Amino acid sequence: MLDRLAAKPLVKSRQRVQDHAEVLTSAWLVDDMLDLVKDESGRIDSRFLEPACGTGNFLVRVLARKLTTVKVRYGRSKFENRHNALLALMSIYGIEIQRDNAEECRSNLLSLFTAYVGAKAEDEWVRAAAFVLGVNIVVGDALAMVTVGTAPGTHGQPIVFAEWGYLGRGKYQRRDFRFDRMTGRGTVSEGEAHHEVFQPVRAYPTMTVAQLACEETIA
Ligand SMILES: C[S@@+](CC[C@H](N)C(=O)[O-])C[C@H]1O[C@@H](n2cnc3c(N)ncnc32)[C@H](O)[C@@H]1O
Repeated sequence: MLDRLAAKPLVKSRQRVQDHAEVLTSAWLVDDMLDLVKDESGRIDSRFLEPACGTGNFLVRVLARKLTTVKVRYGRSKFENRHNALLALMSIYGIEIQRDNAEECRSNLLSLFTAYVGAKAEDEWVRAAAFVLGVNIVVGDALAMVTVGTAPGTHGQPIVFAEWGYLGRGKYQRRDFRFDRMTGRGTVSEGEAHHEVFQPVRAYPTMTVAQLACEETIA
């Protein structure tokens, strides 16, 4: 899967380069850069956001590194292996202005996850992961920090990211935060727990994989 991705051309068309500066990064360069943050890129729950993620050349290789750690740590328990693989996916975020790229990015990440957990396309693990990716890989403008879309209610909305957590025993939690608030200028002092940076715009009841698999993506 990684070899197939690495073999793809880095430029799709001259027009796309002109319109969106779309020149993708080669696999060897991605790996060299991720080596600079080796501990973080292999940590299962370290959060990675790529604000111009293209088709996921960085994010896919981050996921591959995280899954290597999952295998070493949890490979002997199918239950923990799968749940921690999903946690690894949950900590990967992207923004991409071109919908086709965002969809390709989700699909690339999903293929890697599916192969890792050894699931079939209709399996609840794949549906849960697809839902997570629909939330985490945003079709949006990273500079304006708003969504881009054609369906009603999907354009010009503040970008919101989900903070996922694994509580153990098959349960996940989710709280949503606004990207513009998280990246707001200025410093936040210790003890300012009430500051808007720390206030979720929405908190959800805990969810299992089966429940995540039943969620509908609006993206
Ligand atoms: C130079 S490519 C890099 C893609 C990917 N990061 C990689 O290294 O392979 C830049 C990407 O950013 C996207 N892009 C351009 N402007 C953007 C914006 N304002 N918000 C989000 N994505 C944007 C383009 O569509 C393109 O896919």
